[in-house]
Amino acid sequence: MTSPLDWIREAASTRDEAGLTRRLVATKAADIIDLAGNDYLGLRHHPAVVAGAVAAVETYGTGAGASRLVTGTLDVHDELEAAMVALTGAGAALVLSSGYAANLSVLTTLADAGTLVVSDEHAHASLIDGCRLSRAAVSVARHNDLEHVAELLARREGPRAVVVAESIYSVLGDAAPVADLVALTEEAGAMLVVDEAHALGVVGPGGAGLVTAAGASTAEHVVVTTTLSKSLAAQGGVVLAAPEVREHLVNTARPFIYDTGLAPAAAGAALAALGVLRDHPELSARVHANATRLAEACGVEAPAGAVMSVPMPGPHETVEAVERARSMGLRVGAFRPPSTPDGSSRLRITAHADHSPHDLDRACTVLGALVPRAE
Ligand SMILES: Cc1ncc(COP(=O)(O)O)c(C=O)c1O
Repeated sequence: MTSPLDWIREAASTRDEAGLTRRLVATKAADIIDLAGNDYLGLRHHPAVVAGAVAAVETYGTGAGASRLVTGTLDVHDELEAAMVALTGAGAALVLSSGYAANLSVLTTLADAGTLVVSDEHAHASLIDGCRLSRAAVSVARHNDLEHVAELLARREGPRAVVVAESIYSVLGDAAPVADLVALTEEAGAMLVVDEAHALGVVGPGGAGLVTAAGASTAEHVVVTTTLSKSLAAQGGVVLAAPEVREHLVNTARPFIYDTGLAPAAAGAALAALGVLRDHPELSARVHANATRLAEACGVEAPAGAVMSVPMPGPHETVEAVERARSMGLRVGAFRPPSTPDGSSRLRITAHADHSPHDLDRACTVLGALVPRAE
C-alpha cells in the first residue's frame, strides 16, 4: 500500500543526500555574535524601539483587528507612513503586513497578462512570486546588465512594461545600478519596481535607500518596496510611490485588501526605529565600517551595504563551516540552492551597527580561520 506522503518522504531523502535539508532551530539569546540576521542597525532591543512597540500595544491592543479597509487602519499606520515619506521623500507610502505582501501587491497590480515584466535574475522570491501571480509575460534579465534590460524592453509588443530589481541584493549583497535603471525605464516608458529591503537604514542619505540617493524618490514611474523587518527591527512592509499608485493599491491589491492590518506592536516599533535612525545617522556609517572589516577578514570586497557573501565549494562544506562557526561563538548564514540565485553555496555574513570592537575582533579571527582561501 502506498501512502500519499511517499513522494514527500522521497523528496526529503533526495534533499538530505544533496546536503540541502533546512532545519528550524530556535535562536537562543546565547553568548554568540550574530553575523546572520538582518537587524543591521541592532535596534531589536533598543529601549526606544521596545517602548514604541509597548506604547502601541497599550494604545491599540495586540492586533489591528481587521483589514485596513474595514477597521484596521490605526493612527500608528498613518504616522508610520508619514515617517517613511519624511525619510525617503517619496510621494506617498502604504504600510502592509509584510515585505512579501508589498511585493505581491505591487506586481499583481502594476502588471497583468498584457504587460511585459523584465526581472533581474537575482530577484528575491517574493518578487518572482509577484511576477508569476500577475500573469504577465516575464523576461529574465542577466544580473545587473543594463544592456540586456534595454534589449528585452525593446522587444515588447504591448504598451506596458515593468522592470524589477533590488537595490542591494539580498544574498550576494551587491548594488544595482539604480540611477541608470531609473533613466533607462523613464526613456522606455516603463515602470521600475525597486525592492530596498536590504538598503533601508543602511545606504542613501540618512539610510533612505538608493532610489532616494539617485534623486528618484518622486519619479512617477518608480515604485519602491521595502520591509520593516530588517533595519527597522520590526515586521511589516511598505510601498513608496506616487499617490495615484498608493490609491491603486488600496483599491486593487489583494494581499493588502484581504489581509489584516499590520499589528500595532510592529508599527509602533518601526516608527520608533525610524526616530532612532533620524537621531543617529552614525548607525549607518557604523554598519559600513563593520562590514569593511568583516569583508577584509573573509577576503571579499567591502559590500555596498551590510550583506556580504563568501563562495564555498559546496552545500556540505557550507553547513560544516556554519557549525564550526557556531562552536566558536559565531552565527553565520548558510545559503544553498534554491536560495542562491546562481545555484552556488555561500556563507552569507551581515554587518551590524551594534557589534563592539571586541566582538568584531573575535568575529574576524574566527572568519579568518573558517573561510577557504584561493591557493
Ligand atoms: C529582498 C527582499 N524582499 C522582500 C523580503 C520579504 O520581506 P518580509 O520579511 O517583510 O516579508 C525579503 C526578506 O525577508 C527580502 O530579502
